[in-house]
Formats: sequence, structure tokens, C-alpha cells
Amino acid sequence: MKTVFSVDELRAVVADWRRAGESIAFVPTMGNLHEGHVSLLRRACELATRTVVSIFVNPIQFGRGEDYARYPSTLEDDKQKLQAAGLDLLFVPNLDQLYPGGMEEDTRITVPVLSTILCGQFRPGHFSGVATVVSKLLLNVQPDVALFGEKDYQQVLVIKQMAHDLLMPVEILGMPIVRDPDGLAMSSRNAYLNASERACAPLIFQLLTRAADKLRRQDTSLIAIETAGMAELAAAGFRPEYFSIRRAQDLSAPRPGDTSVQILVAAWLGTARLIDNLRVEMPAPLQSV
Ligand code: PAF
Repeated sequence: MKTVFSVDELRAVVADWRRAGESIAFVPTMGNLHEGHVSLLRRACELATRTVVSIFVNPIQFGRGEDYARYPSTLEDDKQKLQAAGLDLLFVPNLDQLYPGGMEEDTRITVPVLSTILCGQFRPGHFSGVATVVSKLLLNVQPDVALFGEKDYQQVLVIKQMAHDLLMPVEILGMPIVRDPDGLAMSSRNAYLNASERACAPLIFQLLTRAADKLRRQDTSLIAIETAGMAELAAAGFRPEYFSIRRAQDLSAPRPGDTSVQILVAAWLGTARLIDNLRVEMPAPLQSV
């Protein structure tokens, strides 16, 4: 595994590969890698002859007062995991490499509508920060395929729309959430949980599963399911932001006749903001909302 720190070095390696007719799969990350990231890399190795991972904690996707300054950094550990999983190239740029003109007046990419709902409503500017850095990375890694975890389901849709709208010649793949045995979705931010919060955290997945059962039975209104989810999270000590049932394809409000629905949650537990979601394929089309 080779590690490069500059855009120029990255481009040189990619150019050699392209000349040799290699295909490239890319996994962008912010480091602090867990089994979810490793599962993306494993799939990447199956899809292309060469694999690239980036590690960059992107300041412009964090709001004021969010966890940018304390985001866990575990580069040596991450390198070992990537090497073991068979990575070819690790790209670890610093701020100057990705924001050569500074961050204040940098060009921004904004995907409309999708960026303003759910997480976008609670984290204004977040998805623009994500779309901007991911487009810089895609332009320079030039992958055939880029893989993203579906724990960040809304992020996957934002990036798919961005790639589609900007005519980027890359396939964006969303990959299934990897969970701890008790159901908690793996996330770098789980490290912020203390022992009692960690014991409480799997409730999110339990509530998603319960909500999915109710949804499939179609004996409770969507709003009643959402309200119950919010109330149960609050009663257990979470500070929920949303518990929301949406159309899977674009996160708009479900309509009668829909068959693919996504339930999405964001909730604070102590100092950790946790998100999770679950796809529900309806046994019968949704009758009413
Ligand atoms: O999901 C993440 O880790 C980040 O949002 C990403 C896609 C690496 C962009 O900074």
C-alpha cells in the first residue's frame, strides 16, 4: 500500500494506472475506520483492479460548535486496517491541498432540496460541504466507482444527485449499514458514548425495527408512528431531532401506492449525534399516509 499526501502525487499514480488500463474503486472517509469502512473497501477490491481510500476530516461540512476539533484521528491504526484489507493507495491530504485558496471564498457545490431536509435542516451547510469535498476528490481520483455507507443514507442520495447533475463519469454505490451485534450502526461517533449511553444506544435500531413492523401492517398512520418514535427516544434520555418516514428514492413525503419507504432517525445521546435508518419494502402498496 502506498500513501500519498499531495494532489500531484495522487494524480501521478492515477495517470499511471489509467495508462495501464486499470479500473479504480474509491472509498472517501474521514478516518477512524471501523468495520463499516472495511466492508466498503472489501467490495471496492471486488469491483476494480485498483483501490483508493482518502482520509480527510473536512472542516466545511461541520457547523459551528460541532465536533470538527475533536473528531477522532487514528491514522496509524487506520493504515494497518487498510493494508490488511488490500488497499493500493491511501490519500491523506492536508487542508492546503484541498482548499488551496482557503475555505472562506472557495467554490461550493450545492444539491438543492435534498440538502435542506432532515439532517440538512439541523446542519445547515453540511451537505454543501460534503458535496464540495467529494467532488474535489472524485475529480482527482477519477474512479470508475465510489462507495459510500448507507448509514448516511441522505448523504448517498445527495452524492448520487450531484454526480448525475454534474455529468460525472462515475458510478456512486450505496452499501449496507454494518451493525454491532446489538444493532447499533457502526460510526466513528460511537466513540463519544460513555458506557451507560452505549448500553442505551441500540434503542434506535429497536425503534426503527418496531416502526417498520407497524408500517408493514398498515394499521397506524405514519404521523403516529413518527410521533411514537420521537417520544420513546426522548423518554429514554435521547434528544431526538427527527424520526421520519420518507420515500426511499428521494426522501420526499410518502404517497399512497408507494412500496419502498425509508425510516430515518437522528438523535443526540450525551455529546454524540447518532443517525440511523432502515429500508422498508412494503408487502402491499401504502394505502394512506
Ligand atoms: O461520510 C463521510 O465520512 C464524509 O462525509 C465524506 C463522504 C468522507 C466526505 O467528507
